[in-house]
Amino acid sequence: MTASRASTGRRDFMIAPGGRLTGRLPVPGDKSISHRALILAALAEGVTRIDGFLDSADCRATLTALQTLGITIELGSDASVTVHGGGTSELRAPAQPLDCGNSGTSMRLLAGMLAGQPFSATLSGDDSLRRRPMERVVKPLQRMGARIESLDGCAPLTVHGRQPLKPLRYALPVASAQVKSALLLAGLFAEGETWLREPAATRDHTERMLTAFGGECLQVEGWIGIRGGNRLRATPIQVPGDLSSAAFFLVGAAIATHAHLVLEDVGVNPTRTGIISLLRAMGADIRFHGEHLRGVEPVADIEVRASQLHGIHINPENVPLAIDELPVLLVAAACADGVTTLRGAAELRVKESDRLQSMATGLRMLGVGVETWEDGMQVTGSGTFTGGTVDAAGDHRIAMAFAMAGLRATAPIHIRDCRNVDTSFPGFARTARAAGLAIDSVEDAP
Ligand code: S3P
Repeated sequence: MTASRASTGRRDFMIAPGGRLTGRLPVPGDKSISHRALILAALAEGVTRIDGFLDSADCRATLTALQTLGITIELGSDASVTVHGGGTSELRAPAQPLDCGNSGTSMRLLAGMLAGQPFSATLSGDDSLRRRPMERVVKPLQRMGARIESLDGCAPLTVHGRQPLKPLRYALPVASAQVKSALLLAGLFAEGETWLREPAATRDHTERMLTAFGGECLQVEGWIGIRGGNRLRATPIQVPGDLSSAAFFLVGAAIATHAHLVLEDVGVNPTRTGIISLLRAMGADIRFHGEHLRGVEPVADIEVRASQLHGIHINPENVPLAIDELPVLLVAAACADGVTTLRGAAELRVKESDRLQSMATGLRMLGVGVETWEDGMQVTGSGTFTGGTVDAAGDHRIAMAFAMAGLRATAPIHIRDCRNVDTSFPGFARTARAAGLAIDSVEDAP
C-alpha cells in the first residue's frame, strides 16, 4: 500500500548555504511593459506582434481579460503574442467577471480602459488583490464620469463605463504608475484633454508606448497630457528583460562571496534604474554594456561582480524609481557594513503583501537586526544570515529576495509560500540554480 497525503498546493524554496553566481543569464520579459503592450495593442487598429512577452500568471490575467472582452490574441511558443486589435470601439461586454488574479497592474489599468466603454464589467482577483487599495483609481475615474462600485474601496470593482468620459485635470496624491496609466487609458476615451501631475516621477512605459502606437502623449511643465479620440495603430513591440527580475541577481551577485554575472538585454529605462543607483551607492560593481534603444525602451547587458557593500540612507525621493526592488535591497543591506535606513516607503505596505512587515519578520528570523517604522525600516548589516524558516506571505518578490540570502547564509533557509513567483518570474528556481544558487523548489510542501 502506498502512503498518500493531501495536497497542500504550496510551493516552498529550500536554499542550501553558500554557492557562487557566474555566467550569462537571460532575464524574462518586463512585466509592466508586457501588460501595456497587450492593452494598447487591443485598442489599436490592426495586428500587433509582441516579442519577448512575459508569459507569467499576471500577464496571462490581462491577456485572458482582453480575450473575454472580445479581442483575439494568440500566444506563440516563442515568447511572442499576436493581438488582433479592433481600435478603440471594438471591445464587447464580458459574459463573466474578469479575474485579475494577483495582479494590481491588470486591475488598475483595465479599470481605466473599462471606464470609457459603453458597458459594465466586473474586475476581481485573489485574496491579496482584494485587500489592496483601489480608491486611488476609483475616485479620479468617477470624476471622469464612470460609475464604479467597490467593496469599501477594494475589489471586486464593477465599472459602469461612460462614453465619452469627461476630461480630467488631476494631481495624483500617490506616486503610482498604475494609477497614472489607468487615467491615461481613460483619457483616450474622454472628450478633450486629460492632464495629470505626479508627486514624483514613476515608470513612463505607458507614455513611451502610446507614442509607439501613434498616440500623442504630451508633456508640459511637469504635467502629462493625452487627447481623447487618439487613434492607435498596430506596431511591433519588443519587450526588454525585466530589471525588477534582474534585480534579484544583481543583489545576489553583489553579496555573494564569489560572483561574476552578465544579465542580458535588460530594460534600463531611467524611471526604473533606482536599484542600480542605490546598489552603486552601496559600493556594488555594476556596469552597462551595449546600451541601445529597442523600440522606445533603452536596454543593456548588465555586468555585476561580488563586492563589499556599505550601508546607505534610502530617502523618500529614491523610493518610486526602485519601488519593487526595495525588498531585495534590504537583503543587500543586511550584508553591508554599517546601518541602512529606508524612509518614505509606506507604499510597500500595500503591495502583494505588507512588504515592510514581510521583510522585517523574515530578516529577524535570519538573525538580522531590524527596526521598523510606519514608512520604512533600519537594517543593521550583520554580514551573514543564520538559517531558518521565513514566510514569503504569497508575495513573489519576498520569496525571491530571501532566496538570495542563501548566498551569505551559514545554514539552510526554508522559504514558505513561494508559488506566486510565477506571477513575475516563471522558472526562477531553474534560472537561479543554473547560475549557481543552491535552490530546490518543493511542490506540495507539507
Ligand atoms: C507597476 C507600478 C508599480 C509597481 C508594480 C508595477 C506598473 O505599482 O509596484 O509592480 O506596471 O505600473 P504602483 O503604481 O502601485 O506603485
